[in-house]
Amino acid sequence: MALNLVMLGPPGAGKGTQAERFAREHGIPKVSTGDILREAVHSGSELGQKVKAVMDRGELVGDDLITGIVRERLSRPDAAAGFVLDGFPRTVNQATALDEILAKRGPVICVEIQVPDEELVRRVKSRRVCADCGANADAFGQNGKDVPQLCQNTDRCRSVGPKWVTRSDDSEAVVRERLKIYWRDTRPVIDFYKSRPTFRVIDGKQTPEQVREAMVSAAASALDMPASQLRSMVMKKLSGVINVAPRGARQG
Ligand code: AP5
Repeated sequence: MALNLVMLGPPGAGKGTQAERFAREHGIPKVSTGDILREAVHSGSELGQKVKAVMDRGELVGDDLITGIVRERLSRPDAAAGFVLDGFPRTVNQATALDEILAKRGPVICVEIQVPDEELVRRVKSRRVCADCGANADAFGQNGKDVPQLCQNTDRCRSVGPKWVTRSDDSEAVVRERLKIYWRDTRPVIDFYKSRPTFRVIDGKQTPEQVREAMVSAAASALDMPASQLRSMVMKKLSGVINVAPRGARQG
């Protein structure tokens, strides 16, 4: 069995925040399509140039393009024992493609984080990200209020300190457009999954720590195993797949 987790929910629901922590604590990769696209924009690659304007308007990039990116990422050995998908699937076409990509790779746990629209707009407008590494200000460390003094993701962030900026698609007008697109194109993805026995809903208005606990319980109950066994299941499976220490495992 693998720990295949899909995070669903509108912009600002806390998908990225929770995906990062869950992935780190369970030794699986976080695969965020938003992060992959933002990195491409940051690097000025051909992909980045193609998607920048679409992202800045809050619209979705094409299904074929994004599905190709996810297919390639999930084929890497570090995703064989599981992954957390953040931001994909966002259309029913993408969800259908994901089923095909994951055929014979075990069930997909789908967690929908629910938060009212006005709270989403408030969160997204006040979000700050590090211009150097793209990290979100840590909602866990700061109770979702202030940005921390340090982010620790790159040598530059550690030595010079983070450069907190607003994401280019986080203005109020673009957030409202993203929400409109969410209700039109992405909400049907919930209907696609909700009759499955591995579908769970979480109240995203709780504190980040409470949401984290609810996610771990949701994953454990979906796989019908104690939460304490999730990580060891991943480690056991990974040790048979790749010959390197898994992410988050003790070195030395
Ligand atoms: P993407 O990056 O995926 O953006 P999103 O889905 O709109 O989600 P967000 O990153 O805005 O929110 P989140 O739910 O991750 O919340 P977060 O944890 O950051 O996509 C960006 C763009 O890329 C799309 O618009 C599209 O153009 C393109 N794209 C990406 N994937 C695509 C796909 N599959 N198909 C087509 N196009 C695609 O939290 C938000 C804030 O709230 C943070 O400041 C955080 O600190 C705070 N917070 C988190 N949890 C809590 C809490 N419990 N209480 C209080 N504050 C909290």
